[in-house]
Order: sequence, then C-alpha cells, then structure tokens
Amino acid sequence: MQHILQAIMSAEMAIDPRAALTDIGALPVPESYRGVVVRAEDTAMFEGMASRDKDPRKSLHMREVPTPELGTGEALIAVMASAINYNTVWTSIFEPVPTFAFLKRYGRLSALTRQHDLPYHVVGSDLSGVVLRVGSGVTKWQPGAEVVAHCLSVELEDAAGHDDTLLDPEQRIWGFETNFGGLAELALVKANQLMPKPGHLTWEEAACPGLVNSTAYRQLVSHHGAQMKQGDTVLIWGASGGLGSYATQFAINGGGIPVCVVSSPEKAELCRSMGADLVIDRAAEDFRFWSDENTQDPAEWKRFGQRIRKLTGGDDPDIVLEHPGRETFGASVYVAKRGGTVVTCASTSGFLHSYDNRYLWMNIKRIIGSHFANYREAWEANRLIARGRIHPTLSRTYPLEHTGQAAYEVHRNAHQGKVGVLCLAPAEGFGVRDHELRARHEDAIGRFRGR
Ligand SMILES: NC(=O)c1ccc[n+]([C@@H]2O[C@H](COP(=O)([O-])OP(=O)(O)OC[C@H]3O[C@@H](n4cnc5c(N)ncnc54)[C@H](OP(=O)(O)O)[C@@H]3O)[C@@H](O)[C@H]2O)c1
Repeated sequence: MQHILQAIMSAEMAIDPRAALTDIGALPVPESYRGVVVRAEDTAMFEGMASRDKDPRKSLHMREVPTPELGTGEALIAVMASAINYNTVWTSIFEPVPTFAFLKRYGRLSALTRQHDLPYHVVGSDLSGVVLRVGSGVTKWQPGAEVVAHCLSVELEDAAGHDDTLLDPEQRIWGFETNFGGLAELALVKANQLMPKPGHLTWEEAACPGLVNSTAYRQLVSHHGAQMKQGDTVLIWGASGGLGSYATQFAINGGGIPVCVVSSPEKAELCRSMGADLVIDRAAEDFRFWSDENTQDPAEWKRFGQRIRKLTGGDDPDIVLEHPGRETFGASVYVAKRGGTVVTCASTSGFLHSYDNRYLWMNIKRIIGSHFANYREAWEANRLIARGRIHPTLSRTYPLEHTGQAAYEVHRNAHQGKVGVLCLAPAEGFGVRDHELRARHEDAIGRFRGR
C-alpha cells in the first residue's frame, strides 16, 4: 500500500498534480488492505441491551481483508479519507437488523455481486481518494482521477429506476447494504458513483459531505422533496448535526429562512456562524413532547409552535426537515404550516411514529418520504460543494484504527457536524489543488473546527 500512498503524496508537491497521478494505474494493487469491519460472529453481542448502551467500539474492528475482484462497470479506489455516517452506527449496533442479511441478498443477485456475501462487512458510505483501476466498460474515469463517491448503488436494468434512479428495485446504499465500503484503505464502487473531488478541499473535508449533503439536497431542494423556494420558513431538527448542518446551508443559500433546533449553546452558536439567526435550544427550553412512554403532550406541541412563531414573527414552517422520528414527529406535523410539508428520511428515536391526523388532513399538510438522493441530485449537491456555495462541516477527524471511537461519539450525539476518518491520508491538510478558491472560503470551511 505504501507505494500507492507515495504516488498520491507526490502529487502534493507537483506543479501538475493530475499529471503526477496518471501512472498510478501501472502500480500493483495489493492483495489485501486494512478495512473497518463488523463480523457475522458478533451479531448477538449486544442482545438484551438498550440501544444507547450498545458500544460501536466493541463491534467495529480494523482488519486486513482480501482485495475484492474488480467487475464490469466498477472502480477500485485508494481511499484517502472517509467519514462517519449514522448508517455505520446502525451497522455497528446491529440495528434494526444485522447488515449481513443485506449482503446475503446482494450476493444472490449475480455472479459479480456474490463476493459481497462474506462473514465480515467492510463499512462506510463516504470517501475521497484516487481511482486505481477501472473495470471493463468504464470510459468516464481513469486511474489517477481524484474523486469522491456518492453511496447510491443501483443496477439500472429495470425501467422503474430510469426516471429517478432511487426508484430502481435493486437500490442499495454502498457500504451499508453492500460490502467493501469507504472506511478502509481501498474501496470498490460502481464507476457511476464517482464524482470529481472538489479541488479546494483537503481529503478529509471532501470526504465528509457526500451522504448527508446529497440527502439534505433531495429532501429540501429537489422536486422529489419539498422544493424549497425563496422566503420559505424551514424548521430543521438537529441543525448542527450531519444532515442538519447541510440543510441549514441549503436553506440559507436558496433564500429560505431556517429555524434551527439544537440541544446546546455551542450547537446554537454553530448555527449562527452559518448565518442562521433563528435558533431553538430544545434542551434549554426543555421541550417534552411525550408525557410518558405512550402519551404525547399536545400542549408541548403548542408551546413549540408558539416559540417558532415568536422567532419568525408569526410564520409557521413551510417545510419541516424530519429525521429524529418518533420523539418529534407529532410536533413536526402539528407545527407545519397549513399546506406545508414534513419531509422525512429517518427515525433515529424510533420507527413507529404517531401524530394527530386531524392536523394533517384538515390543514392540507403532506408528508414526503425521502431516502438518500438519485444520481443527478448527488451530482448537483457535490457541484455546490465544488463551487464553494455549500461548505463541509467537518468538526474533527480520527485515524482509521479509531473508527470505533468516532462512531461512538456520533451514537452518543457528542459530535458536531461531521466526524471524519483518515484512511490512507497520513495527516489532515493534504489534497488541496485549488488554493485560490480555498482562500476565498477558508473561514466557512473551518467553521465547525473553530477556525
Ligand atoms: N435516509 C437517508 O438517506 C438518510 C441519510 C442520512 C441520514 N439518515 C438518518 O438521519 C438521522 C440523522 O443523521 P445525521 O447524520 O444527521 O445524524 P447526526 O449527525 O447524529 O445528527 C442528528 C441530530 O439530530 C438531533 N437529534 C437526535 N435525536 C433527537 C431527538 N430525539 N429529538 C430531537 N433531535 C434529535 C441531534 O441534534 P441536537 O441534539 O443538537 O438537537 C443530532 O445532532 C439518522 O437516523 C440517519 O441514519 C438517513
């Protein structure tokens, strides 16, 4: 692996980094590499424990694993950096189901996918890095290209996915429902997951937006989501977290008015630093939407709605960006404006939502289900990063061997923005090619690291 890393690092000093990397395709690919895995033999290790107590540090291991075979339409990437997504937290605590069931199903699909069905799962759904090899039929990408990868894996053989690739019946999230993910030194992707690495960012900055940025884009901006327009009031749960920190930027960038919900003064300050003036600290104001395990408290929904109106000067949210799920969903439906939209992509606090449907139908509100992004949406979201319109929200990085600790912090909600992982990158700060663009946005890029 060292010769590959040396070749990539030589581009740091080169006058033409692109030219310096063109020969990387001639270097031998190692037969094995270090990757972060969960193991099939561990899937029962947390049985009987509360979700909160299940510890990713116990289930995520760094292991030497064999390099997978490169198939038609695929690419093998030397991974410089990756990031923690909540799906890796789910994988590491084996909830809602162990991901080995996904690998088994994928393995049954074809001779090409059979190799994914293994007793270990190399996790991770983000990466930045360099293309090492491309499979037959790949023409757009060549070895040496500096890339990021989005995590939509689809087969595209069925017409159902030809308008909106997310609707492909064989849709999967790479590194979660497929093997050979990004928290590793090498990764296997479909070549159509690849996008140009934004030149003004370091490897670790470029790796961190992919999954959440694309998801927030579809939820908020796309015609498949809430189609936010100028002046819309947008309620954003977890506004300094992974999804929320990008949703807040999209709202501001598109002329919306974000109302950011967070749980500490530090997180509130981060929202303000992104340009969001309207912030609710749900912990300080002690909103309790549930009076006991089974009963929601509409008086608290009302208090929350009044708080929003006080901030906005009387407006209710046109859009609510939902992901906490069970704990907040009743409140989200209640506070959405008449004719407004609740757009949901997750259920962190529980999958079974309940809400008072009278508020929905009598007030002509709608709920939209959203999941990651289609190819085009992921590309558009990455383009906004590359043009310096939306910025990474990296708060800290860990070396690959401490991925368990990084995932633990996300599981415990002890992080801000995105937590990055250095894979082959020997330290932070490498990979910047466009220094001029970076200089223009240095402050915004460093916001979540207090720079
Ligand atoms: N379907 C998809 O494609 C997709 C894509 C990305 C993420 N997701 C899912 O979306 C969820 C969030 O992902 P993320 O990357 O944004 O995670 P994250 O970085 O942990 O941020 C989530 C934020 O939500 C807030 N939150 C957590 N529990 C809450 C609760 N009970 N009530 C109110 N707020 C709560 C927290 O902020 P405060 O404590 O500051 O309020 C937290 O920082 C996860 O379940 C993830 O799996 C789905």
